Amino acid sequence: MFFSRSKSKLGVDIGTSTIKVVQLKRDNGKFLLETYGMVNAASQVMSKADVDVISQTAGVLKTLLEKAKVTTKKVIASLPNNIVFVSVIDMPALSDKELKNAIEWEARRYVPLPLEEVTLSWSVMRESQTAEKIKVLITAVPTTVIENYLRMFKLAGLDPQALEIEALALIRSLAGSRQDAFIIVDIGARNTSLNLVDKGFLRISRNLPVGGDTITSGIAQSLKISPGRAEQFKMDLGLSGDLQQIPQVMKASLESIKNETGQLVKIYEASGGTISEIIFAGSGAYLPGLSVYFSDLGIKASLGNPFKFIEYDERLKTALPKVSMGLSIALGLAMRE
Ligand SMILES: Nc1ncnc2c1ncn2[C@@H]1O[C@H](COP(=O)(O)OP(=O)(O)OP(=O)(O)O)[C@@H](O)[C@H]1O
Ligand SMILES: [Mg+2]
Repeated sequence: MFFSRSKSKLGVDIGTSTIKVVQLKRDNGKFLLETYGMVNAASQVMSKADVDVISQTAGVLKTLLEKAKVTTKKVIASLPNNIVFVSVIDMPALSDKELKNAIEWEARRYVPLPLEEVTLSWSVMRESQTAEKIKVLITAVPTTVIENYLRMFKLAGLDPQALEIEALALIRSLAGSRQDAFIIVDIGARNTSLNLVDKGFLRISRNLPVGGDTITSGIAQSLKISPGRAEQFKMDLGLSGDLQQIPQVMKASLESIKNETGQLVKIYEASGGTISEIIFAGSGAYLPGLSVYFSDLGIKASLGNPFKFIEYDERLKTALPKVSMGLSIALGLAMRE
């Protein structure tokens, strides 16, 4: 056939510790897992036009694509949370022109960069056609970062279709269109994002500069052991171990995540809403004992299942749960229309 009619899409999530890829095929409204892969690679946010960083990342990604036998070039990628400014604002239902002005005004208030240096985008979240009030999701990303990402994907031989914030991909893979209010907590290597979702829409998205690697460094420093051993301690013992000292060190790093989550719950409940669940994602969420540690918030807290809406080969049944947390974003990206 002359034109490619591939219904396959590739989701790429470049995290600070790991690059993840997932290829899905859409078939009669269903998603089939074609392949996935991840590789440890300390990536730097490409905020400067650093040719070395761009070509290095492209090289690592290209090798990963070959190893995972990825067959499509159509890629949807996420933008790292720590460089994206996300805001959801309430507005009266304005005309498009009025909306544009109002959004630029709002962006000037919260984006700590000159507006000429960022790419602004927004989407209107309307609960019903007749609603007098609308919510607008505004994102601002430094334009150089977008340019560098696009350059990197081209170098890796891919055809970028869209760049998206992590929160939207997480909602797609973990929640679909569920209507209740919940918080997705993605614990990565150096970042944790808290995303409050209600009626299928993102309401609040926050990024905290702590993650699994922060916990590992805490253990390594306090026990004076190598980062490698500290990582092993963390994975083996988690928050439920017998050694008194280790869990204490971990809790120091985790406290801020739990406190911020508790704050979001309070803010939302003060406005009359009810949070029904805390859903964990990100490989940092594999920390043993994490859900129990959050239990004093009084809300059901558990690991999400990003493969809920995906069909896959039976033989992967035991392997997938061990990697699924880390794949949550890449999966959601590949599910994008
Ligand atoms: N079994 C496990 N138990 C506890 N922690 C784990 C486990 N497996 C991986 N981790 C931790 O998960 C973290 C990496 O998570 P992930 O791959 O989601 O991060 P990332 O996306 O690369 O980083 P970021 O989102 O911060 O940019 C590491 O800190 C690692 O130590
Ligand atoms: Mg991540």
